[in-house]
Amino acid sequence: MSTVILVTGGSGLVGKGIEHVINTEPEGSRFGKRANETWIFATSADGDLRNPEQARKMFEKYKPTHVIHLAAMVGGLFKNMKYKLTFLRDNILINDNVLHTAYEQKTQKVISCLSTCVFPDKVEYPLDELKIHSGPPHESNFGYAHAKRMVDVQNHAYKEEFGCNFTSAIPTNVFGPHDNFHLEDAHVIPALIHKCYLAKKNNTPFIIGGTGKPLRQFIYSHDLAKLFIWMLREYDDVEPVILSVGEDEEVSIKQVADAIVKAVGFTGEYSFDTTRADGQFRKPASNKKLLNLMGGFEFTPFDKALDASVKWFLDNYETARTGKPSQ
Ligand SMILES: NC(=O)c1ccc[n+]([C@@H]2O[C@H](COP(=O)([O-])OP(=O)(O)OC[C@H]3O[C@@H](n4cnc5c(N)ncnc54)[C@H](OP(=O)(O)O)[C@@H]3O)[C@@H](O)[C@H]2O)c1
Repeated sequence: MSTVILVTGGSGLVGKGIEHVINTEPEGSRFGKRANETWIFATSADGDLRNPEQARKMFEKYKPTHVIHLAAMVGGLFKNMKYKLTFLRDNILINDNVLHTAYEQKTQKVISCLSTCVFPDKVEYPLDELKIHSGPPHESNFGYAHAKRMVDVQNHAYKEEFGCNFTSAIPTNVFGPHDNFHLEDAHVIPALIHKCYLAKKNNTPFIIGGTGKPLRQFIYSHDLAKLFIWMLREYDDVEPVILSVGEDEEVSIKQVADAIVKAVGFTGEYSFDTTRADGQFRKPASNKKLLNLMGGFEFTPFDKALDASVKWFLDNYETARTGKPSQ
């Protein structure tokens, strides 16, 4: 039976990771393309998913049997704080249009994408799949977090009322080629890569906000891609799955910065601005459910993945998303 997989948000960091894995893993292997599969990587040029009519047209054009739904308004702390209502509203509209169109068009399966940053602010660690709704999110991202949490509510409601096979993935912080390297709007790794690149180019100090001590879990977009492909083929339950490296694979912001300095080849002055806030010291998420279901998974070592991301940025500086005026 032929399968058409529509990846919404196919031009973003995660979508490009899936496209890379599908195109490079051996055909027919666990994560490689299968003979009966057609993969469509849609962008906002294929339709603005905030608009129900455009969502319907996208589904009518590609007739997907399966959807990996990644399209979202995404950004780092600064952007989340500045555009709370837009994060809330755009993401609610996008998710509602995708899920309802998939229901109407009898799409066999939808995997939507949440994030570990939608978890409650005050919660017992490690985070696990049962704690998503057990308290308010951090106020800095309440728009994004509430919109994303609602997807889990919708998935349950679509299953209970209509029997739909809708589920969700909860990735931790993602990085890799095709990331958003905007200095203010981006997540920590791409923003620091860009900052370090400019420090080297302009012969200025590389200064990182905070002490460098907080610990975070980062997942390489090519690893995350494999986990999405596993979910697509082997996971059929409404309950979400956290897609993350293990709690023992946390890295400090200093380790991140050290690896960036090395990969960029920066030899200038490098320091931490300890007058800047650190944020939470750690917020570990458990990947036990994932590993139990998958029977293990080998994650790319952090330094190797970071090297590949920096190399991609240096090779693609002119076209990368950096906040240059034309973008
Ligand atoms: N990045 C992370 O660290 C992270 C962590 C956890 C979860 N996630 C989740 O992972 C998913 C993918 O994130 P990402 O980092 O790959 O994002 P990204 O690089 O910013 O890409 C966003 C994608 O969504 C598309 N898009 C945005 N608004 C749209 C609209 N109105 N209609 C149609 N398409 C639209 C964009 O299309 P254009 O290119 O055409 O604009 C792009 O393909 C998101 O759901 C995000 O919440 C990300």
